[in-house]
Amino acid sequence: MGKSPSILTLLLILLAGLAVTTAQGQPERDPEIIAIIGTGNVGSTLGKIWAAAGHRVIYGSRSPDSPRVQRLLADTGFGATATSQADAARQGDIVMIPIPPTAIDEVMVALGNMAGKIVLDPTNWWTIEDGFAGAPRDPRRSLARQVQDLAPGASVVKAFNTLNFAVMADPEISAGPVTVPIAGDDVVAKQRVARLVEDVGLEPLDVGPLQAAQYLEEMLRLAIGFRELNPGLAFDYHLRLREN
Ligand SMILES: NC(=O)c1ccc[n+]([C@@H]2O[C@H](COP(=O)([O-])OP(=O)(O)OC[C@H]3O[C@@H](n4cnc5c(N)ncnc54)[C@H](OP(=O)(O)O)[C@@H]3O)[C@@H](O)[C@H]2O)c1
Repeated sequence: MGKSPSILTLLLILLAGLAVTTAQGQPERDPEIIAIIGTGNVGSTLGKIWAAAGHRVIYGSRSPDSPRVQRLLADTGFGATATSQADAARQGDIVMIPIPPTAIDEVMVALGNMAGKIVLDPTNWWTIEDGFAGAPRDPRRSLARQVQDLAPGASVVKAFNTLNFAVMADPEISAGPVTVPIAGDDVVAKQRVARLVEDVGLEPLDVGPLQAAQYLEEMLRLAIGFRELNPGLAFDYHLRLREN
């Protein structure tokens, strides 16, 4: 007959269990090393949230020593750092590119070899200023595909392009739980990005391969058209999962 575990053994098992849960009772996750290339609305908003959630945040900026970026570092806290775009990308396991779409070619070349990394792409072609007509482009070739072509060997994941940065900062301002659709060809990369979505207080929804990014990128056009036709009004996307 085997010996029953001592009280000390039971206590150690209990403590080990507690060690892998956070204060909120959520399972603890390995912190990510996230390079954020671009310190504008989206980059600064998500950088602050992810740093506070325990991830290591490295901002990649064209002017890492500027007073503006230094203020962002102070606001972000939690040991966040700022450096050049290429140096940040070299350090990051996940490299987010919250940059203007017109800068994608130039920035991806500057970042260098991205093989083996997750490249998180939140970019949109359309801007509010464009209005409904917008600058013409072929919707069949997504920005995410453009990024993938410039980053051979990387796992490009499209996410965070379907909501405003104000909702990222405070999901409560939207009148319902907000879903973040995620598209990419690498399932594990999408799972890691899904956890970052949850850290922001949003709901991840895997919508399929990178090809689906072309539809996600067109969603903003609808929202821009609506705003143009209904001055003073806008809508957020509340995609809800249900049984079918
Ligand atoms: N605004 C939103 O609510 C929102 C929501 C979802 C997705 N998006 C998309 O996310 C991307 C970023 O949006 P954002 O609102 O954060 O833009 P933003 O405030 O204009 O910031 C873009 C940042 O990109 C960096 N950058 C790198 N190369 C650049 C270049 N050649 N020219 C200009 N900036 C360059 C700059 O950071 P440094 O000066 O530090 O280099 C700049 O602060 C866009 O593609 C946008 O469509 C925006």
